[in-house]
Amino acid sequence: MLNICVLVSGGGTNLQALIDAQKNGKIKNGRIAAVIASKPDVFALTRAQKAGIPCSVVSRKSFADPSAYSAALLDALKQAETDLVVLAGFLSVLGEEVIAAYPMKIINIHPSLIPAFCGKGFYGLKVHEAVLARGVKITGATVHFVNEITDGGPIILQKAVNVLDADTPQSLQKRVMEQAEWVLLPQAVSAFCEGRLKVTDGHVSVKD
Ligand code: GRF
Repeated sequence: MLNICVLVSGGGTNLQALIDAQKNGKIKNGRIAAVIASKPDVFALTRAQKAGIPCSVVSRKSFADPSAYSAALLDALKQAETDLVVLAGFLSVLGEEVIAAYPMKIINIHPSLIPAFCGKGFYGLKVHEAVLARGVKITGATVHFVNEITDGGPIILQKAVNVLDADTPQSLQKRVMEQAEWVLLPQAVSAFCEGRLKVTDGHVSVKD
């Protein structure tokens, strides 16, 4: 049974998808052992508490410099005996020390079809604003391993979502979350915990 630690910064709807999947037995060989928030008073912490999951806050603002922040994050991850780190709407920058400590063991959910609309500055509603501004007809979500390049790690799963003429950034975000993010993240986490992900030359294969 692998220990999953979920890092959050906001409403926690992706965390909730993992909590619900766990409750329904859809995360094989894995358990959400801890939730770490990048700031206090985020609803994701309420969701964790309601589910009886140990949670803590490790806020970048509380540390003098990035390496002190990384050390604190690493300590919290070690306390939870973490085997898999999941970034679920996590908005702080992960230090290279943290990434190096968990090679191909950190998973992120991004609300677009990488390599489109990703990288520095593309997060939250900004992604969907850019999608609508460009006029693309298809968008979606991507689950990928985290490496030192923002949104640049090996892609695990993707799911397409239609863009509608009447879409606003908010309506599009909601549909991408419901139809793609909340579906893909539990699938990817379970596949990881079951040992069904294989990375070869930056490409991920998912065994059935
Ligand atoms: C949302 O923009 C979502 O698309 C992205 O992170 C943000 C917050 O998600 N993955 P959550 O509700 O906190 O999981």
